[in-house]
Amino acid sequence: MCPPRYFAVDYAINPWMDPSQPVDVARALAQWTGLRDIYRRLGHTVEEIEPRPGLPDMVFAANSGTVIGGRVLGSRFRARERAGEAEHFRRWFVEHGYRDVIMPSRINEAEGDFAWTGRILLAGTGFRTDPEAHAEAQEILGVPVLSLRLVDPRYYHLDTALFVLSEETESAPARIAYYPQAFSAGSQRVLARLFPDAVLAGVADAECFGLNGVSDGRNVVLPVEATALAERLAAQGYEPVLVDISELRKAGGGPKCCTLEIRK
Ligand code: ARG
Repeated sequence: MCPPRYFAVDYAINPWMDPSQPVDVARALAQWTGLRDIYRRLGHTVEEIEPRPGLPDMVFAANSGTVIGGRVLGSRFRARERAGEAEHFRRWFVEHGYRDVIMPSRINEAEGDFAWTGRILLAGTGFRTDPEAHAEAQEILGVPVLSLRLVDPRYYHLDTALFVLSEETESAPARIAYYPQAFSAGSQRVLARLFPDAVLAGVADAECFGLNGVSDGRNVVLPVEATALAERLAAQGYEPVLVDISELRKAGGGPKCCTLEIRK
């Protein structure tokens, strides 16, 4: 995770960003700290990377790497405003002992568009990550990649419309939650086929970034406004953990965007 010490919305690269709307850095930092402390309270290890001035979106660490089995696929941003972030994260991985750190040649916004189910990597395209980056990720990470097409600009990254609730195990298939309308008709059919018991979210849960959740298979961290989704998950035996990320949402991000998951 990367503390939003230089948080700002001074450019607009997604429909949520309005540079004329003021942002409160102290509030963003307090909300981010709350999220980090929740992970620690749940027993997860959180490592931090130093933020850099002039890279206000660096708080959205999920966009900077995909780590599976200790192999790191770095990122390459579509917007020039964010391009500089990729190298800081690459260096962090190298300095922290990761030996296989590979940078992509195609535009690849990492976990913004990649979601690991434990067996396959779901991969979004349509707004940010190039479709060719999907094949590149498959080759570099050595995992099967399944392409999904996003069609609504408000849900410009896969992680704004879908997240994995439980990874696949020997005895159980993966479970996901998603907002069907964010996907093309064909991708909706693929998701319905692959995940017949998915939890489907409605527009209200999607609009507050409820699909930008982070699950450890039991606890599901969600924005506090995602009340219907939280109830549905609780009824299925999950433990919703609600966080206020309203300040970070002004940049078009939620809990998952702030969280790069390291799978050693
Ligand atoms: N302002 C950032 C951007 O548009 C937000 C990124 C949110 N990250 C995410 N994983 N969806 O790139």
